[in-house]
Amino acid sequence: MEFVTNEKLTIVGAAGMIGSNMAQTAIMMGLTPNICLYDPYAPGLEGVAEELYHCGFEGMNITFTSDIKEALTDAKYIVNSGGAARKAGMTREDLLKGNAAIAEEFGKNVKAVSYTHLRAHETGRNLVCRLLLEKKK
Ligand SMILES: NC(=O)c1ccc[n+]([C@@H]2O[C@H](COP(=O)([O-])OP(=O)(O)OC[C@H]3O[C@@H](n4cnc5c(N)ncnc54)[C@H](O)[C@@H]3O)[C@@H](O)[C@H]2O)c1
Repeated sequence: MEFVTNEKLTIVGAAGMIGSNMAQTAIMMGLTPNICLYDPYAPGLEGVAEELYHCGFEGMNITFTSDIKEALTDAKYIVNSGGAARKAGMTREDLLKGNAAIAEEFGKNVKAVSYTHLRAHETGRNLVCRLLLEKKK
């Protein structure tokens, strides 16, 4: 299988619905053979990793960890969909508040391993921040 790059891609929030789908999509698009899944919810993360192993994708090096430092070390690309789950009675504004705090914490972790460029994609309709981080060349 040919890949766009061999650099490490870290998917943050990989135990979640969007993150796990993004991981599979990245593999199927042949973006890179080196994918690291990160999520603080370790049991769910292991489940996602096992599902991907069972798919038998060829030539893939899929790793997973709940240690943010390990996840970000040497990662050239990061896709982040990690966030708080919306519960009954919560408005989208409530959700944004929780997710803003998570994004702030994430920004500190990224800084600690020298990432320098943060782009936030936010849709007005959904009030969701999806962050794409690029390591400065
Ligand atoms: N799925 C949708 O259609 C949709 C729509 C609007 C908003 N959102 C929001 O987008 C985010 C992701 O959606 P989802 O459907 O994948 O949710 P999800 O609940 O399935 O997954 C979110 C994942 O983020 C992880 N997480 C929690 N705190 C984290 C942190 N500090 N760092 C990294 N990861 C963390 C959780 O453990 C979980 O596995 C959520 O905040 C959700 O509320 C989703």
